Amino acid sequence: MIVLGIESSCDETGVGIVDLHDDGTMDILADVVASSMEQHARFGGVVPEIASRAHLEAMPQVMEKALADAGIAKPDAVAATVGPGLAGALLVGASAAKAYAAAWGVPFYGVNHLGGHVAVANLDGEPLPHAIALLVSGGHTQLLEVEAVGRPMRELGTTLDDAAGEAYDKVARLLGLGYPGGPVVDKLAAAGDPQAVAFPRALSRAEDLRGEHRYNFSFSGLKTAVARHVEAAERDGRVISVEDVCASFQEAVCDVLTAKAVMACEDTGARTLLLGGGVAANRRLRELAQQRCDAAGIELRVPRFSLCTDNGVMIAALAAQLIHEGGQPSGLGVGTDTGLEVEVPLVHA
Ligand code: KG4
Ligand code: ZN
Repeated sequence: MIVLGIESSCDETGVGIVDLHDDGTMDILADVVASSMEQHARFGGVVPEIASRAHLEAMPQVMEKALADAGIAKPDAVAATVGPGLAGALLVGASAAKAYAAAWGVPFYGVNHLGGHVAVANLDGEPLPHAIALLVSGGHTQLLEVEAVGRPMRELGTTLDDAAGEAYDKVARLLGLGYPGGPVVDKLAAAGDPQAVAFPRALSRAEDLRGEHRYNFSFSGLKTAVARHVEAAERDGRVISVEDVCASFQEAVCDVLTAKAVMACEDTGARTLLLGGGVAANRRLRELAQQRCDAAGIELRVPRFSLCTDNGVMIAALAAQLIHEGGQPSGLGVGTDTGLEVEVPLVHA
C-alpha cells in the first residue's frame, strides 16, 4: 500500500511517499521538500502570510517531483498535517491533500505534525519502544511521553515562551549573524568557551523542579541575558568574543534541554530518548544528550537529519502506521487545528 504525506505546518512544503508492507515495515519512495526560509530571512523569523503563499506556489512542483521519484501516478492514500502549526500554512497543505485525494478517489487521513516527528524513528531502526521524545525546532519545544508510534502521546512539558530554535534565531539576530541562527551559532560555539559567561538556566532551581515547571522550559530570559551582556560590553567599550557568547548561550540551552529530557526518562521509566526537530542537528545538544544518556543507561536515538526537520515522509509514515493498525480515514470534512493536542494522532470529522 502506497501512502503519500503532505507537510505544510510551517515554512517547509513537503511531500513524502512510503510503501507500507503487510508486516508494518515501510520503505521511503520519495522525499521532496521546498523551503521558504530564504523569504523570511530579512524578517528574522517565519512570516505566516509569506509561508502560506510559498506553500501554494510550491505545492504542484513538489507533488510532481515526489510522484516522479516514486514512479507512481497516484498513491493508495493521502495524508496531511492538520495541526499543530500556522493557520494559513496548514490550510494550504490540507486543502491540497483533500483535493488530490478526491481527484484520485483515495482516502484522506489528517494527522498530527508532532506525531510525525516521532514516527520517523521507525524508518531508521527498530520500532520505537516506550520513549521520551524531545522535539526542538523553530516552532516547537516539547517533552513528550510516547508509548509507540501512532499512539496518543502525553505532553510532559513545553516552553512557556520562545521555542529552542527561536532562541537561537533571536540570539543570532542580535549578534548580527543572520537567519536561521542555529547552524551559525553552532559553528561559532565550537570555537568558544562554554564557561566564559554564566548565562541563566531557567526553571531549573530545586523549587522549579519540584513544581509544575519540572518539565517546562523558558528561553526568553536567556535571550535577554545575552542582549544585556552584549549591551554592557558595548557601553564599556569592551571587545567581546562572539564565539564565547555563542558557546555559553548554547551550553545554557543544551544543559537545560538534556537535563530535563533525561529526568523525564528516569521519572517515566523510559529507556529511550528520541530527538527530533531542526535543533536536533546541534552538535552540542547531541553530544551532551549522548553523555547524559550513557551515564543513565538510556538509548539515544537521533533520526537522520533530513527526517528531523519538517518533511512529508514523517506525515506519510505516521499515516501508514495508523492505517496498518486499522485507523479509519478522516473524511474530507475534517478541519485544521492550529493547537491540535498531542493526544490526537489522527483527526476525524
Ligand atoms: O525543524 P525546522 O527545520 O523547522 C521549523 O522550525 O519548523 O527547525 C528550524 C530551526 C531553526 O530555528 C534553526 O535555527 C534551528 O532549527 N537549527 C539549529 C541548528 N540547525 C537548525 N539550532 C541549533 N543548532 C543547529 N545546528
Ligand atoms: Zn516540526
